Amino acid sequence: MRSVDDPDPKPFETLAVEIAREAAVLALAVRERVVGDRSVADMATKSSATDVVTAGDRECEALVRERLAERRPDDAVLGEEGGTAPEPTPGQVRWVVDPIDGTVNYTHGLPWFSVSVGVELDGRPLAGAVVEPVSGRVWSAAAGLGARLDGQPLRASALDRPELAVVGTGLAYDPARRGRQAALLARIASSIGDVRRQGCASLDLCSVAAGWIDGFYEHGLQPWDWSAGALIAEEAGAVVRRPGTVPDDGLGREATFAAGPALAAPLADLLRSAGVADV
Ligand code: IPD
Ligand code: CA
Repeated sequence: MRSVDDPDPKPFETLAVEIAREAAVLALAVRERVVGDRSVADMATKSSATDVVTAGDRECEALVRERLAERRPDDAVLGEEGGTAPEPTPGQVRWVVDPIDGTVNYTHGLPWFSVSVGVELDGRPLAGAVVEPVSGRVWSAAAGLGARLDGQPLRASALDRPELAVVGTGLAYDPARRGRQAALLARIASSIGDVRRQGCASLDLCSVAAGWIDGFYEHGLQPWDWSAGALIAEEAGAVVRRPGTVPDDGLGREATFAAGPALAAPLADLLRSAGVADV
């Protein structure tokens, strides 16, 4: 929730979009350069995939950090590649950056990955931008000022029936946790309309904002995965639950959750009744 003393969030949205767009162009160029004339099948081998992710993540995050150092030198930055960063001081703006979200899609030639840039103040979201390098689509939001896809306002789904809902989720890299997540999904699968595992949490949240999917949940996401997308979903009218911020609502401390306003309660109940304690 925005505080009355917070700065105008619009310029932060504009800057987040500008920087994420520039990094998105770089993400494609890096993939082209590292992959060269290798086939997508070669790329998917572990070492090549690691090369392209490492180069893409590093170079894009370095670019974002460089631009922020020029334009917002007093702000804090938390990035996936930056290691542990000191907590921001009270009143200090923090940028939360995933240089490439959806890295498995990025390495395998699937077009669904993003550069995600969120902006927060004292733990409250101010603005966010999620840019898709392949399509060039730009998702963005500013706190209290709505969410947009390429400038057009977004609205989350009005569906209220879990049995008809298309629900997105994600799976961890850790195989043991992935197994527990798959077991949870199996427990709810026959009670929902359909399932998507799109491979990019920021764009899952944007998909909720657009009503392309009715709801989304995932356990174990990091702040850079959800910072921008959660605000975009929220500003589009979705009910959003960020991990680690709620005492115990029975969804599991590490749950990120977003759903259209009429679906949120029944979908959350379904997850609770399926048992999320071990996920
Ligand atoms: C991953 C993606 C994926 C989600 C994973 C994330 P990365 O981020 O967002 O959809 O299921 O939990 O780690 O590694 O591609 O930046
Ligand atoms: Ca990510």
